[in-house]
Formats: sequence, C-alpha cells, structure tokens
Amino acid sequence: MSKLAANPFKFGDPVDGDYYLPRPELSVTIRQFLENRIHVVLMGPRRFGKTSFVLNLLDELAKEGYVCLLVDIFNITSHRDFLYQLLRAIRAKGIFRDKLKSWWKRISDIVPKVTADFDLVTGNSSFGFTLGKLPEEDVKSAIQDLLEGLSDLGARVIVALDEFQKISEIDDKGWLEATIRTHFQKLTNVSFLFTGSRKSLISEMLNNSSRPLYRSCQIIEFPAFGPEFTDWVVQRFATIGIICEKMAIENLRKLVQDTPNYVQMVCFHLVAQARTKIRSKDMEEVLETVSRQNAYAYQTLLNSLTLAQQRVLRLAANERQFLFQKDLLIKYEIRSAPALHSSINALKTKAILDEEGTNKGKVLFDDPLFAYWLRLCFDPIKRV
Ligand SMILES: Nc1ncnc2c1ncn2[C@@H]1O[C@H](COP(=O)(O)OP(=O)(O)O)[C@@H](O)[C@H]1O
Ligand SMILES: [Mg+2]
Repeated sequence: MSKLAANPFKFGDPVDGDYYLPRPELSVTIRQFLENRIHVVLMGPRRFGKTSFVLNLLDELAKEGYVCLLVDIFNITSHRDFLYQLLRAIRAKGIFRDKLKSWWKRISDIVPKVTADFDLVTGNSSFGFTLGKLPEEDVKSAIQDLLEGLSDLGARVIVALDEFQKISEIDDKGWLEATIRTHFQKLTNVSFLFTGSRKSLISEMLNNSSRPLYRSCQIIEFPAFGPEFTDWVVQRFATIGIICEKMAIENLRKLVQDTPNYVQMVCFHLVAQARTKIRSKDMEEVLETVSRQNAYAYQTLLNSLTLAQQRVLRLAANERQFLFQKDLLIKYEIRSAPALHSSINALKTKAILDEEGTNKGKVLFDDPLFAYWLRLCFDPIKRV
C-alpha cells in the first residue's frame, strides 16, 4: 500500500461516489410514491445512511428535471431555526436568488427595520442574526409564506426534510405539524420526503388520529443492507491490497446492529493501522478500543440515569430478545415486568433506546457502540 493511497472508508458524514453503495430497490420504491405525489416517511436508525441515500436520490431526480430541496432540521429548536434552515435550503439553489429576494422584500415590509444588514447574495453571517429580530408571530407568517412560495418553484418539486421528527419536539401545540399538513393539500406540485430516526415519535405522529399528520404519508422502513454490503466492503479493502475475511465483516455487522457507519468506521481504523490481512478478532479489537475511548461520555450518561434504568440497559445490551422473561428479570435484578416496562419507556424518551419493530420483547439501542461498551463492562457471565 503506498503512503498516498486514500483510505477507502469514510464515516461520520453522508457519503457519495465510491464511498457509497447504491440502494437501487429502495430508490425505485420511493420514486414511485413521490412521482405520484404520495408523501413518504423514510424511517430508520441513526447512522444507517438515510441522509446519504436521500442526497443520492435527489441528485437522480434533479437530473430528470425535478426541483429538489433538502432541509436539514436535525438541530432545530424553534420556529426561527426552522425558517432559517428552509431559507438555507432555498438559497443553496442559486437559481432561486431572485425569488428569495422578492420574498424577503415582502417579509421586510412587515418588519422594516431588519433588512439593512441582510445580504442574500453573499449569504453573510448576519442572516441568522437578522432573523433573530423577527418576533414569533412574524416567524410563523414567514414560514407560511415561504411554504406557499414552493408552489412556484417548478412543475415538479421534491422537498426532503431530514430528521423530521424534530418538528414534533418543538413545543407549539402542533402548529408546525399542522402547517405542513395544510401545505400537503395546497401544494399540488410538491412531494415531500421525510426521514426520521425516532421510531416511537414518528409512529405517534402518523398513527395517532388526533395528530395533524395522521395517515398523511406512506411510511417506509429504511432497510439494513443485504449480503451485498459484505461483498462491497471486501472489495473496498481489495482496492488497496488488503485481504479481509467475509466472516469477519459479517461478524462485525452483527456486533454493531448492522450500522453502516460503524462498519465503515472500524474498517477505516484497520486500514489506518496498515494491516494487510484482517480477521474477526482484529475487528473486535478496534471496536473495543473505539468504544473504550468513549467511556467518559458513556459513564456520564449512565450517571444521569436511575439505578433501575442502568440495570435495564445491561439487560438490553446483553440479551437480544425476550427481555420480559422471569429468569432474566431475576438475573438483572429487575423488580417486575411493569418496572421493566416503565424503565424502557423512560429510556426511549431519552432517546437511548428505540423500538424494534412491533415486537414488545425487543429493544434497539440508539447507539450500538454504547451497547457494545455496556457488554464489555457488564458481562453477567464474567461477573461471578
Ligand atoms: N449507502 C452506503 N454505502 C456505504 N456506506 C454508507 C452508506 N450509507 C451510509 N453509509 C455509512 O454510514 C455513515 C452515515 O451515513 P448517513 O447518511 O449520515 O446516515 P444517517 O443519515 O442515517 O444518520 C456514512 O458516513 C457511511 O460511513
Ligand atoms: Mg442523517
């Protein structure tokens, strides 16, 4: 391996090109809905590749003449943040500069003072600051106005909202949800594509008949990769002359809840260590090192939980299913099935655990690396 050979693995940020394994079937399914103006919610665990997939899909659709916007709302905390992200997404499309300018002119008629330091062309940093002066009521009308404006962005528009469960976490009595719902009907040229990682929040938003978005979207589960991913990883190693056992990758995939981000992360480190042949135990070594590096954060997280919740986490990390069995409750010192149930719910609210399908006896860790670390530290067999 030459010193200059690039590492064939990447993790953390969304990937594309050689670092991205396409998902053609998923692509076809979702396109069929969007082309028929059926809004889609793509639901899957964090770090599974949702954003990468959406970026890729929007690229394809843009080539065919769709106008595509990606609005990242992962970090929004308020309507103002939402408005800001929406503006950013529109501004990212240079072609809408004039539309955005005239929109801003209209808004600034409502609040004349705030226009002076605003520069749409360079998009300077006073942008956020300027919005900061808009009172809540104006922010709301600006959002409505901007959403309405989507109707003249083109004949076929796709708006993707990444991590959209965030809109339900804003404390506004469902205003944003209801506003988006209203625009489903108004905007006959727009199909919405939502992604989300909090299964319990999303099911609640779409399956509760008192919520605005009730049954308004097609839910699609973001699938784990099939065996093609293992072959792809073997291939990626091969591009720089590293031989990796297929079994080792299959084992790694199991250990990290089949999370592509962590598969690429472990492989990245193995390449960086300049190994030439990789086996299962090498993978586990890296996984152990990386998860121990996070020990401080994990310990802090554990300390913020009740003792009962901490025991439930050990149970969930070590036992994959049938958590409610009596002997497991005894083994992990859990008082009763209802106590387990309420701890699981509390841990879901904290976004540490999430639901695994409809099966009540199973849970999923939001962060499989945390689960791995818990197994390292609290192995019930070693602890005799
Ligand atoms: N299609 C893919 N092929 C290969 N690796 C992928 C793919 N999708 C995701 N990954 C890996 O997962 C990481 C996180 O992807 P991302 O799209 O940000 O996930 P999410 O949006 O679900 O959190 C990427 O950096 C990459 O390592
Ligand atoms: Mg993402």
